[in-house]
Amino acid sequence: MIDAKDLCLRYADGTLALKDININIKSGEVVFITGPSGSGKTSFLKLLLGMEYPTSGYLRVLGQPVIKGEDSKIRRMRMAMGPIFQDFRLLQGRTVMENVLLGMRFLDFNKYQMKANTKDAIERVGLSHKISSSVDNLSWGERQRVAIARAVARKPKLIIADEPTGNLDKDNALNILELLTSFKDNDTTVIITTHATHLIDNIDGDILLQIDKGNIQWGRLSHEEYY
Ligand SMILES: Nc1ncnc2c1ncn2[C@@H]1O[C@H](COP(=O)(O)OP(=O)(O)OP(=O)(O)O)[C@@H](O)[C@H]1O
Ligand SMILES: [Mg+2]
Repeated sequence: MIDAKDLCLRYADGTLALKDININIKSGEVVFITGPSGSGKTSFLKLLLGMEYPTSGYLRVLGQPVIKGEDSKIRRMRMAMGPIFQDFRLLQGRTVMENVLLGMRFLDFNKYQMKANTKDAIERVGLSHKISSSVDNLSWGERQRVAIARAVARKPKLIIADEPTGNLDKDNALNILELLTSFKDNDTTVIITTHATHLIDNIDGDILLQIDKGNIQWGRLSHEEYY
């Protein structure tokens, strides 16, 4: 599902954001990415989303090499993803339902499927009672849930959440992590960056990926330790 070999990302100003990353993530795994601010977490997600390209090395996501010049294939790859951005990127002045529906633009759903996906996703995140509310009037945690609903309504094979626990208290952060990992199944991989390292011990994950100044260390978590 995700293969990286000697992957590097250097930005135009010379910043080396990621160095020699070698990683292999299988379909259906839950991956936590931790690391200090500025360590390269968002940069790694941008590569996965095809919003940046490797400056050296190799990256393949959902069978698609992430390289320049393959725009239509990268767009297709993105259609199978549900991104949840650090700043949510909700459309202000629109309702919860409109935001979730708009997330499915350009996908291959008909309007009945779009309606059903929207209703299901909003129910899964526990916001059915706010379906017709403007997102402007929602709390931070509720906005986070709308962003999650918008992502999962796309029925993605890869859910990517950037710092979904930021600005939430401990209980809410734990709830959000549990909610996100609940979307894992054989065909759906979930990748989450978080500063909340103390919380992920309580959540069932498969891979812990730690980034420090662009260097990644990673390992599969042993499930035995949870029992
Ligand atoms: N477009 C860009 N151009 C140049 N440098 C960038 C760009 N985007 C990020 N960087 C730099 O790359 C490094 C990694 O940034 P990144 O946003 O990936 O970190 P992060 O781990 O997500 O941090 P945070 O926890 O604060 O969100 C930082 O030094 C940052 O300043
Ligand atoms: Mg970031």
